[in-house]
Amino acid sequence: MSVTASAPAKINLALIVGPRRTDGFHDLATIYQAVSMWDEVTVEQSSAGSGLHLTISGPESFGVPATDANLAAKAARAVAALADRPADFHITIKKDIPVAGGMAGGSADAAAALVATDRLLATNLTKTELTALAASLGSDVPFALLGGTAIGSGRGEVVAPTLARGELHWVVALADEGLSTPDVFATLDDMRSDAVIPPPVVPTALANALVSGDVTAIAAALHNDMQTAAVSLRPSLQRTLAAGMDAGALASVVSGSGPTSLFLARDADHATDITVRLSGAGVCRTVRRVMGPVVGARLVSDNT
Ligand code: C5P
Repeated sequence: MSVTASAPAKINLALIVGPRRTDGFHDLATIYQAVSMWDEVTVEQSSAGSGLHLTISGPESFGVPATDANLAAKAARAVAALADRPADFHITIKKDIPVAGGMAGGSADAAAALVATDRLLATNLTKTELTALAASLGSDVPFALLGGTAIGSGRGEVVAPTLARGELHWVVALADEGLSTPDVFATLDDMRSDAVIPPPVVPTALANALVSGDVTAIAAALHNDMQTAAVSLRPSLQRTLAAGMDAGALASVVSGSGPTSLFLARDADHATDITVRLSGAGVCRTVRRVMGPVVGARLVSDNT
């Protein structure tokens, strides 16, 4: 018996970071969008007492832990514990989302594993129960379940769908090496140590631009508070961001804690042009085209 589920990568169209909280997290105001880059997680029931084993495959598998530290393993264990069943599973993760890239790849795996294990064990968790489990696994996991375009608050785990007209076409530049999210947050704290940081608020201009679907206004309003910290840890990002603008992008922005860079295109053809030009510039490992919004975690196949 096995079940396969997929979950999308996320980008942040706006990411406003508040002060560091006493629990070490930061309050955020963000607009998430799920984009057409998916990881797939298969959870297969193994024989009693065999325990939990992981296989990682796919183009972005390098550096993904095949241990209990893996978020998909934690997710499957959490559902098994709720169902009062042993976690005798073989989990296969097909990675298309870069590791430590600011696109919530690990969170996508956790969300897909939650959905797959829930079906495999016929736990029938409600949306509220799944979302609570997701939040306990990581700040971006509830959004990976939800998908679409959504406002995130709290530490990112409180999500609410928001209106966004039409499709957006993005070009994504993947870097050679990832960045650690806690390191980027710590660098941001150091850079702002003297400043009084106001509570984070989603930019109204961006929310309005999304409602009207005006891509030029969306381009003008993209913003990421973590970008300066990511660039200071990885100065070569400046060159990648500039190369995307030279390639004709409407706007550039770092995705989440980086180092993936995002470029907004007018439409699908424009995204292809930017992809071709940026690929030739030699400023990143790979260039990909994606569109958003797409749906959140969903079942792909059910062999129960
Ligand atoms: O929630 P998640 O496990 O993805 O967070 C990874 C790390 O990123 C946290 O341990 C914390 O250091 C940092 N973080 C933060 N504020 C957030 C989200 C994450 O400081 N809102």
